[in-house]
Amino acid sequence: MAAASSRVFFALWPDDAVRGMLAALAREVAREALGRAPAQSNIHLTLAFLGEQASHRVEALRELASGLRAARFVLKLDEIGCFRRSGVAWLGASTHQPHLLALQANLVRALRRGAFPVDGRSYAPHLTLARKCRTTPSGLAVQRVAWEVRELALVRSALRPGGPDYRIEARWALQRPSARGL
Ligand code: 2AM
Repeated sequence: MAAASSRVFFALWPDDAVRGMLAALAREVAREALGRAPAQSNIHLTLAFLGEQASHRVEALRELASGLRAARFVLKLDEIGCFRRSGVAWLGASTHQPHLLALQANLVRALRRGAFPVDGRSYAPHLTLARKCRTTPSGLAVQRVAWEVRELALVRSALRPGGPDYRIEARWALQRPSARGL
């Protein structure tokens, strides 16, 4: 029987090559910060967290995302930081990432039009590398990760004792730049 509701979020999900790089970095950061790296298969960058949604609303999310138009882009991640209160160490960008911010803003606009709850705080793009950190990771030389973002994903999250289990509910390809560069 289908679940009556699920906990969902929109995210960018890396391909295997980028995932491998991010997982190696996550292990290094977790060691340095005395924390725990996420499972390799769970590594992602959240665009918008929706929380628990009834199944008909998950359908509405699929429709809404199908209507979004965005081109592929290269995301440059090169900065490690830490949310001290939550003990989360993250990878982010030291430079403005206009394509990422435009995609996230378009998504949020569509979510608001669809009466979905969206966090009112400004978006702080980050990719969680370690949780339950006991110290701030420092002294790590970060090699810039250049991630070619080719798709948007709607992800279902089930909270399990061993950690969250993420399943991709749907994915949408971002458009290739046209031959004329438009
Ligand atoms: P985090 O990695 O910083 O915890 C699934 O939980 C994803 O949604 C995670 O990437 C998580 O970010 C993000 N997220 C954003 N807001 C959240 C919230 N209120 N509760 C749980 N996860 C949230």
